[in-house]
Amino acid sequence: MACATVTATFALSASKPSPHVPSARPSSLPCERTPSHKVKIKRNLLLSIRSQITTEAPVAVEKVPKKNEEGVITNKFKPKTPYIGRCLLNTKITGDDAPGETWHMVFSTEGELPYREGQSVGVIADGVDQNGKPHKLRLYSIASSAIGDFGDSKTVSLCVKRLVYTNDQGEIVKGVCSNYLCDLKPGNEVKLTGPVGKEMLMPVDPNATVIMLATGTGIAPFRGFLWKMFFEKHEDYKFNGLAWLFLGVPTSSSLLYKEEFEKMKEKAPNNFRLDFAVSREQTNKKGEKMYIQTRMAEYAEELWELLKKDNTFVYMCGLKGMEQGIDEIMGTLAAKEGIEWTEYKRQLKRQEQWNVEVY
Ligand SMILES: Cc1cc2nc3c(=O)[nH]c(=O)nc-3n(C[C@H](O)[C@H](O)[C@H](O)COP(=O)(O)OP(=O)(O)OC[C@H]3O[C@@H](n4cnc5c(N)ncnc54)[C@H](O)[C@@H]3O)c2cc1C
Ligand SMILES: NC(=O)c1ccc[n+]([C@@H]2O[C@H](COP(=O)([O-])OP(=O)(O)OC[C@H]3O[C@@H](n4cnc5c(N)ncnc54)[C@H](OP(=O)(O)O)[C@@H]3O)[C@@H](O)[C@H]2O)c1
Repeated sequence: MACATVTATFALSASKPSPHVPSARPSSLPCERTPSHKVKIKRNLLLSIRSQITTEAPVAVEKVPKKNEEGVITNKFKPKTPYIGRCLLNTKITGDDAPGETWHMVFSTEGELPYREGQSVGVIADGVDQNGKPHKLRLYSIASSAIGDFGDSKTVSLCVKRLVYTNDQGEIVKGVCSNYLCDLKPGNEVKLTGPVGKEMLMPVDPNATVIMLATGTGIAPFRGFLWKMFFEKHEDYKFNGLAWLFLGVPTSSSLLYKEEFEKMKEKAPNNFRLDFAVSREQTNKKGEKMYIQTRMAEYAEELWELLKKDNTFVYMCGLKGMEQGIDEIMGTLAAKEGIEWTEYKRQLKRQEQWNVEVY
């Protein structure tokens, strides 16, 4: 039986958080490490050779997991029979002058909705749509580690941006589910489905280099990763690799979980790197807007070298637009070495080293 304890205190920024101090509790987080065999082909392009089949009959090729997929649960709760959780805490974590509001919320699960870092849950907002039918579920990345913010494996946390926009008719429209969630009060019930998703599961290797690229609420899965890496003690997992987080937000008042990340950096200065891109306040030397890919460009060579290692894993989460910007940077770097980025990325994806969940 694996065992985990949490050593962090809740440190949500910008507005006043509720003073919850997680306690040390057990959890069950199985962790299987399976080596894979590698050969180098064409200029550092690494391929996993999973098996050599010489018999005539087709033989099932065993998939060697690089991500922690062992025992991952999906779709335990479906829309017709959702889990009914309860809101325990809901805090605005962006400053009052930030463009838009983002909230951190914790729901009770009583251990009935087990999930892994990097998975998502569905939420069904109360009420009905224009056709009088129950609202369709919306997906939200889980923002807590598997044992949850209180360390007892009985909660799940989300990081939600309140969607408000002006439509073509000049009317202000509020997004159904994000506003429902941001308005929840402690004690309110909430319908949850899932958990879902395997794309964003953490690497098995505790010595891996994990590069995390987030815009806005895309930070959610990485908060889960980083709590497990730096705030928790697990019998079967002690992170001793390099975690490098790039977070892009519009203003410094919209920097999410900044205090938590700074605390991690204090605790593990050799294992954690933290870079912010504050798009509406910072520029690069050419005066260009500081997007996440602009910040990454400052470390281009270093990132490219890391990417050549077979235990480097890149994760990207947030706005769809970020993917193209990051591809452009990588494409330039790859081209310098005569490598075609699209093909290289395909190989990385096949090896579960390039993981994307953008919306
Ligand atoms: C895997 C996954 C994980 C996600 N994780 C998160 C998360 O962690 N946090 C988070 O906040 N969100 C997350 N999302 C997004 C989330 O699912 C919802 O889409 C989001 O909260 C909006 O839902 P809503 O019900 O509030 O808006 P809806 O009522 O569904 O309205 C959204 C619709 O409004 C329209 N619209 C939106 N903006 C504009 C605009 N500027 N102009 C005109 N029309 C517009 C579009 O048609 C859009 O489809 C995730 C999505 C996916 C797929
Ligand atoms: N798994 C998922 O799919 C998932 C998980 C979580 C969230 N999401 C979604 O991700 C989005 C995050 O939005 P948010 O409102 O939370 O973020 P936000 O606070 O508005 O921050 C987004 C940041 O990204 C910048 N940006 C805009 N276009 C970009 C581009 N092409 N390349 C790089 N950076 C860019 C923005 O800059 P400017 O505004 O200054 O241009 C801003 O600095 C939401 O749509 C959310 O629903 C998806």
